[in-house]
Amino acid sequence: PDPGWSVGADIVVVGSGIAGLSTALEYTRRSGHGRVVLVTKDRLSHGSTAYAQGGIAAATAPGDSPVAHMVDTHLAGAGLCDPLAVHVLATEGADALRRLIGLGAEFDRSESGELSLTREGGHRTDRIAHAGGDATGAEIQRALVDTARAEERIETIEHAVALDVLRDPATGAVGGVTLHVMGEGEHGGVGAVHAPAVVLASGGMGQVFSSTTNPSVSTGDGLALAARAGARLRDLEFVQFHPTVLWLGPDANGRQPLISEALRGEGARLVDAGGRSIMEGVHELGDLAPRDVVARTIARAMVEEGTDHVYLETRHFGRDTWERRFPTILASCREHGIDPLEHPLPVAPAAHYGSGGVEVDVDGRTSVPGLWAVGEVSRTGVHGANRLASNSLLEGLVQADRAAARLVEEHTGGRAPAGTTSAATDTGPDPERLPLTDPALVPRVRALMSAHAGVLRTGEGLTELVRELDTLAHRRAPVVPDTASWEAANLLTVARMVASAALHRTESRGSHQRTDHPDPRPDLRSTAVIVRLEGDTT
Ligand code: SIN
Repeated sequence: PDPGWSVGADIVVVGSGIAGLSTALEYTRRSGHGRVVLVTKDRLSHGSTAYAQGGIAAATAPGDSPVAHMVDTHLAGAGLCDPLAVHVLATEGADALRRLIGLGAEFDRSESGELSLTREGGHRTDRIAHAGGDATGAEIQRALVDTARAEERIETIEHAVALDVLRDPATGAVGGVTLHVMGEGEHGGVGAVHAPAVVLASGGMGQVFSSTTNPSVSTGDGLALAARAGARLRDLEFVQFHPTVLWLGPDANGRQPLISEALRGEGARLVDAGGRSIMEGVHELGDLAPRDVVARTIARAMVEEGTDHVYLETRHFGRDTWERRFPTILASCREHGIDPLEHPLPVAPAAHYGSGGVEVDVDGRTSVPGLWAVGEVSRTGVHGANRLASNSLLEGLVQADRAAARLVEEHTGGRAPAGTTSAATDTGPDPERLPLTDPALVPRVRALMSAHAGVLRTGEGLTELVRELDTLAHRRAPVVPDTASWEAANLLTVARMVASAALHRTESRGSHQRTDHPDPRPDLRSTAVIVRLEGDTT
């Protein structure tokens, strides 16, 4: 479809979580006059960031140091972290957190005014700042949305799915992005934002699985868009499964209530139906082992016991700790008829975070000049094969700052005037390149991914998965071009890329566990799989 309308900007940012909003704000602050169009698939306030509970990791405590943070990040990443990316995150983290506080995000503090810090899996010290007890993401999102709304040089377009990157056919230069916007208003239907730089900040892909901590908007749109634009993606097989969501029954699907690791940071313990510890003797950090270790230990315990959940024992917290530290989780448990003061919480792992993504350098540049990526959609290598808890909000902040600085240098003043259309950049998404997918197929895609690309994987299951996904991709039915069918196409594309990457990595490492290849392979230690849209791997 041809874009029915267009606007211009110096940069266009796709996504309104911590990474997207921070990039837009930093860019306007640093550029002085640069204009940003920020597009988001739902409302500005909605996305994964707002659901983050545990907090944001940074070496701010007197006994802590960036080096200690680096060591924990590398150990959690199971040998695949990029040393430069880890160095940047750990050394720039504390300043990034201070800037966020400067924008008005209010973190929990001790009586003497110091940041209250807690611990999560894989951290060897307390370094996680939190807000509202267990509502850290909601407070960060509030502060960033308030600040962005007050900035007149940020124009926002809500309810917009980004479809494809616009390219100049002669030079290949990125010229903006096409959008499908719900509604009939000034910016309704298919339109285009013309800008010489497109920053993907569209978050993750948890919705590719049946059960996830991610909200409904996390359908991997940015990953699919980048793949269609020819960008390199990397490490997609390393999907992190959070060890504990509230188990709501065998048929529960979609977003599940997150039960933060911070509960284990405060002394909660994982137990089986008989009350026996699950993590004892498994790892030196016990219940606070890195997330991949905990998730697979739970998955194996569930297989051995023939059950689909385990329990989190928190009754010893008492009412005061629950109400003061974890009000959000307490309310969510009660909403589902479960009282953690009376009973252990039934919990199970669920898809949580893509440690891989669109390959970028430490400033957010992808392999396609003019296309940038920050936050979960990107892959700097900082997370390796398994992200360290609470490094994701931090990465979004640190990357946003670095990307904004470079964008100001490289892309201010190149703005296409609002309302102009140019033949070079006016081609809408080509239906042949992006066959829309019938949304009715989505439950099947999710069920296949959860069955074969979950916490424990096998070559046989992954081969079956690839075959089934290819069959679904070749099914053609008349489809209405709307948000649901764009999302379905993206989900299928991303599922296929993850399946292919997982099939090719014949080892177990971090959050990629193959029961047919149970050991890590030293020859694959630093060799990430690169996946292209057509499924080639190198
Ligand atoms: C949690 O609170 O357990 C999630 C934190 C994270 O994903 O880093």
